[in-house]
Amino acid sequence: MARVKGRRDATTARFDRHAYYERAVQDPENDAAMLAKLFRRYRTRVPMRLREDFCGTATLSAHWARAQPGRTAIGVDLDGATLEWGRKHHLPGVEARVELVQGNVLDGEGAKADIGCAMNFSYSVFKTREALRKYFEVARSMLVKDGVFVLDAWGGWGSMKPERERKRVGNFYYEWEQVRFDPLTNEILCHIHFELAGGIRMDRAFTYDWRLWTVQELRELLLEAGFSKVHALWERTDADGDDTGVFYEPRRIDNQEKWWTYVVAER
Ligand SMILES: C[S@@+](CC[C@H](N)C(=O)[O-])C[C@H]1O[C@@H](n2cnc3c(N)ncnc32)[C@H](O)[C@@H]1O
Repeated sequence: MARVKGRRDATTARFDRHAYYERAVQDPENDAAMLAKLFRRYRTRVPMRLREDFCGTATLSAHWARAQPGRTAIGVDLDGATLEWGRKHHLPGVEARVELVQGNVLDGEGAKADIGCAMNFSYSVFKTREALRKYFEVARSMLVKDGVFVLDAWGGWGSMKPERERKRVGNFYYEWEQVRFDPLTNEILCHIHFELAGGIRMDRAFTYDWRLWTVQELRELLLEAGFSKVHALWERTDADGDDTGVFYEPRRIDNQEKWWTYVVAER
């Protein structure tokens, strides 16, 4: 549960944790374009229907639909209040083409999609191979015949130590805290905190009790769940070591302190 410290009445109104989360963590316009690009990499047609599992406020679904007439999306999340926030802030104008379902991604509700995704490592709530394989089986069953499923993954030795990263985002600070990592189970506990001007803090705005999955585990489980091919991608860097936004499929890669990447599975 989030805790707001400081002048309580004024602050609670100023702290809209979804708005701060979206500004600090998400880039839905770019993500929607990237999903379409990844689909086109493995298929010769254009994807029209997106399934966004663990959609939260469904900003990605809304951006997907808004980017092109005729596109549709379905967003699935357990949390009714979060979906309601998304409905109010993102759906006006595209409500006829974006369906939000309050439910468990394991239940596989709604029509099949061209492209499915589980972004920001949300699948990490499944902590056993059996649970994650089951989720991947459902995700596969919710795709059309030539459908494609996209995940992101993160890791590196810097993900396995207690630390607090702080970055300025416009007029506030975003903090990512890794509280603990258990080397025996790969369970990881993280929080997101925000701080506004004047030092007013919202501690534990979001908490993630996850298993840190390796790309190889994801690859194996996606194949066990029935996907025909799995592509573990990596971002190319330029001569200065800066990210280029271009992804390729290397056979091997050297570990880094912190990395994130895409894993793409063909139905
Ligand atoms: C890390 S947020 C991801 C939000 C968004 N997808 C993003 O990219 O930032 C995780 C979301 O997953 C939802 N969630 C957790 N377990 C779920 C489940 N089994 N089925 C559906 N949603 C779930 C939570 O309610 C939360 O909104």
